[in-house]
Amino acid sequence: MTTKVLMVCLGNICRSPLAEGIMRKLTNKQEFLIDSAGTANYHLGAAPDHRSIAIAALHNIDISRQQARQLTPADIDAFDHILVMDEENLSNALALCNSATQRDRIALITTASEVDAPHIPDPYYGGDDGFAHVYELLHDCCINWLKKHTK
Ligand code: 4NP
Repeated sequence: MTTKVLMVCLGNICRSPLAEGIMRKLTNKQEFLIDSAGTANYHLGAAPDHRSIAIAALHNIDISRQQARQLTPADIDAFDHILVMDEENLSNALALCNSATQRDRIALITTASEVDAPHIPDPYYGGDDGFAHVYELLHDCCINWLKKHTK
């Protein structure tokens, strides 16, 4: 059975595209389906931020062909795990739910991965070093999450 994991941030151009790329690289296509979305509609159809593309490329991950899309209630039915980057994304995603089953699918990626960070900080208004930090945090989260969710 394929486990479906959706990475969610605000704009779907910085953090969640990177999380999608990292998780795709770490998983097998037969076992996992990985996607990403944003809770906002600011950047619909846009490619990831050039700084996310660059830090991914530095780690041999190509995320340049991703296109931003907005999280929908249907996603919350379709995906087994919805991993959000911060508390704002968490409350935005929970607001789309109308059942406990849906709410139980949503978790902060740091908490779900037992990584010692409160959340994945929004790097959009910062410099390149913020994106390198986000990459490292997300990489740790994905490795830990997979350890917990694979045999
Ligand atoms: P993301 O970062 O949620 O990691 O994609 C942001 C991207 C765009 C904006 C904010 C955060 N924005 O305000 O446009």
